[in-house]
Amino acid sequence: MKELESKKPTIEEFTVFCKKKGFVFQAAQIYGGLAGFFDFGPLGVEIKNNLKAEFWKKFVLKREDIFGQDGSIITNQSVWKASGHVDTFADLVLTTKETKTKLRADHFIEDTLNIPVDGMNAEEINSLIKKHNLKWKGEEFEEVKNFNLMFVTQVGADANKNSIAYLRPETAQSIFPNFKQIAEVSRAKLPFGIVQIGKAFRNEISPRDFVFRSREFEQMEMEYFFNPNSKCELLTEKQKKTKIMFLSAENQDKDSSEMIETTIEKLLKDKKLNEYHAFWLAEFFNWFTEDIGFKYENLRIREHIKTELSHYSKGTFDIDYKYPFGYKEMLGMANRGNYDLNQHQEHSKQKLEFFDEANKEKLLPHVIEPSLGVERFFMAILNETYINDEKRGNIVLNLPPKIAPYKVGVFPLVNKEELTKVAREIYEDLIEEDISAFYDRSGSVGRRYARADEIGTPYCITVDFECIEEGKDNGTVTIRDRNTTEQKRLKVESLSGVIISLIKGNLKFEDL
Ligand code: GAP
Repeated sequence: MKELESKKPTIEEFTVFCKKKGFVFQAAQIYGGLAGFFDFGPLGVEIKNNLKAEFWKKFVLKREDIFGQDGSIITNQSVWKASGHVDTFADLVLTTKETKTKLRADHFIEDTLNIPVDGMNAEEINSLIKKHNLKWKGEEFEEVKNFNLMFVTQVGADANKNSIAYLRPETAQSIFPNFKQIAEVSRAKLPFGIVQIGKAFRNEISPRDFVFRSREFEQMEMEYFFNPNSKCELLTEKQKKTKIMFLSAENQDKDSSEMIETTIEKLLKDKKLNEYHAFWLAEFFNWFTEDIGFKYENLRIREHIKTELSHYSKGTFDIDYKYPFGYKEMLGMANRGNYDLNQHQEHSKQKLEFFDEANKEKLLPHVIEPSLGVERFFMAILNETYINDEKRGNIVLNLPPKIAPYKVGVFPLVNKEELTKVAREIYEDLIEEDISAFYDRSGSVGRRYARADEIGTPYCITVDFECIEEGKDNGTVTIRDRNTTEQKRLKVESLSGVIISLIKGNLKFEDL
């Protein structure tokens, strides 16, 4: 297949494209928007739903050891005290002395001095500010302060200390308190997982890079519970041999961002992670490259340095994507040990221990937590597939058919009733078969192809006069492939079957 010539967008081009096509735009734009909040338009929501559906299919529906849930966003405030978020879920904020402008300290230092500051404490930040005499637009800073990122609200009409509630900053804490109940109703045996997709909220000090760092976003999280004394039977040889580009904690400690190519097996040998962690890292990495279609060279795995680890983590590895602004975290994967179950057991005074039948042992299971942001996944897949095709003179979104908002565009060659009638019938037959399609009869057919390419439609069907002469039942139409622009003739009666096979990947266009 002819490779599409690829020219990647800058973040500005990317943002303009998303707005122009109505994928994503500022929330409440008519009022000037609100920083860090976005709305997904008609096509954006389809792509987002498709990404979530692929995740759910892969990690819930196709696995016997994983169960889904949908927890409430607001819950008993004790959950957030127990989890440690009330005390420690904070970023360092710099405030200017006169205008009281607030800046996220680590971002400001990183941008100004061009050094990594992950995990620096307030004292270290203050001393860097003094040493380099750093100012913001001529203004000096007050001492750096902690700023808790949780949005606070009130439940019920009476404001008192018991009515305080928080919008959840991670979906994970809707899972841990339910762990025992879900295990019991699902008759789960260790190891097993609970997955949830849902909204999370963080009052980010400086939201930036479009939807990459927003104040309201969605997470797809899994808590995979296991006995740390058991062997991980899931880990395969293929997974161990998975090659990855890796940025180690040691290199970051030396202020280096040099990556090496290594394998999951080598990380295990170096005792950087346990087998369950290795399994999930390989499973997600391979899902991204093999099923979703990210290029190997656009992904890397970054080990967190000790000082940047979250309060609950014994070790974290991010899968970073190469965004227009460089490699940044798309998915985080922490080994939370039994920190959360322990905390919830202590605070709730409820026994959360679980009997591991295989090892005849009662324990508080440990957990590996893959956590993927839907907006960051969305940005990565659009960036990966965005091609400014200069020869064609338009943008082509080379989206995998299963992720594309529409699978097919149906066009009459020209806007004449004999053609529009048949094209419309074909369109209606396709949507009746649950194939997401659109009908377009306005403008030249070339312009309609270009519009379809720009929103990532993998196939277009055009009804011409030949089809009318043949009669609809025996008739043939052209089907055009987005990536090659190649066209073939297909019988109308075979359309839905062929398109379903093409979308599922059971059939290749060149084999038609
Ligand atoms: N439960 C673990 C947890 O929440 P995290 O690394 O803070 O870990 C997990 O977040 C994922 O959520 C990130 O990898 C990212 O994809 C997404 N995420 C976090 N903060 C975000 C933000 N402000 N805007 C968009 N996505 C965000």
